Amino acid sequence: MNNFIYENKTKVFFGRGCVREFLACLIKDFDTVLLAYGQGSVKKNGIYDEVLNILMKEGKNVVEFPGIMPNPTYQKVLEGVRLVRSKKVKMILGIGGGSVMDCCKGVALAAGYDGDAWGNFWDRRGIVDFDPVSVGVIVTAGGTGSECNGAAVITNEVQKVKIGYDYPKCNPVFALMDPAYTFSLPKLQMASGAFDSLSHIMETYFSEPDEQNVSDELAEALMRSIIKNARIAVENPGDYTARSNLLWASTLSENRLIKMGKKCDFTCHLMAHQLGAYTNCNHSCAVAVLQPVYYRHIYKDSVEKFARFAENVWHIPKDGHSEEQMARAGIDALEGFAAELGLPGTLKALGVTDKDGLKQIAASCHYSPGGYRKLGSDEMLEIFQECFD
Ligand code: NZQ
Ligand code: ZN
Repeated sequence: MNNFIYENKTKVFFGRGCVREFLACLIKDFDTVLLAYGQGSVKKNGIYDEVLNILMKEGKNVVEFPGIMPNPTYQKVLEGVRLVRSKKVKMILGIGGGSVMDCCKGVALAAGYDGDAWGNFWDRRGIVDFDPVSVGVIVTAGGTGSECNGAAVITNEVQKVKIGYDYPKCNPVFALMDPAYTFSLPKLQMASGAFDSLSHIMETYFSEPDEQNVSDELAEALMRSIIKNARIAVENPGDYTARSNLLWASTLSENRLIKMGKKCDFTCHLMAHQLGAYTNCNHSCAVAVLQPVYYRHIYKDSVEKFARFAENVWHIPKDGHSEEQMARAGIDALEGFAAELGLPGTLKALGVTDKDGLKQIAASCHYSPGGYRKLGSDEMLEIFQECFD
């Protein structure tokens, strides 16, 4: 394994009723709380009322920060920064999925910094040598793992860049994770969230070193669990056991654990992010469209690993097949799984309409150094085009 330092400061409270049981205690040291949430789901499903009642009972001064959009923008981050500064907020409490959590972490980082936050922490990987404002999160959607990492994936609409680096200092101090809070998710978002978790795992799994290592073995177990539980949850969304397995697997997939000792190939995510920066498409659906096509481009650079994926994750029997046939069968299984979950299979189905515009998007994509092979923007364009319809 490569050398590593492992750190994760987020304290997780998991399970039915955890908000009622623990929230009051977790915020006891903060008089003013910035209550951040998205575009209305928390008001429909009753989670907002539940949380607000606790804050009121504890006598907190609540500053509202509503309307965080999917694919949060830097403008929205700056709106939160102004609130934090003017109201002297010391605790940001986010209720939502990846977008709300990321926006909260972005606000915490930018509010704690005097200079050009975008230039120093998003435009390039900076050094966080100060304490960002404390963030606590109440998770309502699985998939991103944002609750236990330090990344704030933010869209700069002016620059047409969507990006986020994982800064350990930006990890939430606590995450309250009640699987029942995810029950109201639309089925498509629940299913695509499961694929997003799978994608996070694959991005580490398909990278060097490929010698025997515990991170790859954990990754295979997690992938099998997500596949099994996503199938159950799509069939029966009210299955608490499946939903709790999916929610915790989502955390484990993006809390740095399985990345230890490995490089990581972010190519697909970087492409999905730039696609999002230009089209505002749904993140998790975008990776579901791109990933199988990307893997058909690169599997020959590590046939053995892709064949192992087919056998150990999808249980495809060798039956005298060549390594290459196995590798291709694994990628076919991945693509079939996305279809089985009901996810869109093309960019067009995702709402991307401008095929010519893909050229500009491909040109704006970064290269991920952890991949088996360096992809240029021409090949990224080919992938986008193959995904189009
Ligand atoms: O706006 P609200 O009302 O919150 O509604 C959301 C939104 O419309 C809704 N929703 C969330 N929980 C719900 C619910 N609806 C009903 N019941 C619930 N319990 O679902 C929609 C999508 O929410 P969003 O937060 O945008 O989805 P997701 O969790 O997939 O987050 C996506 C964002 O996270 C970033 C993505 O790029 C994207 O911007 N990512 C963050 C990562 C990280 N921090 O580590 C890693 C990921 O790879 C990803 O890049
Ligand atoms: Zn993702």
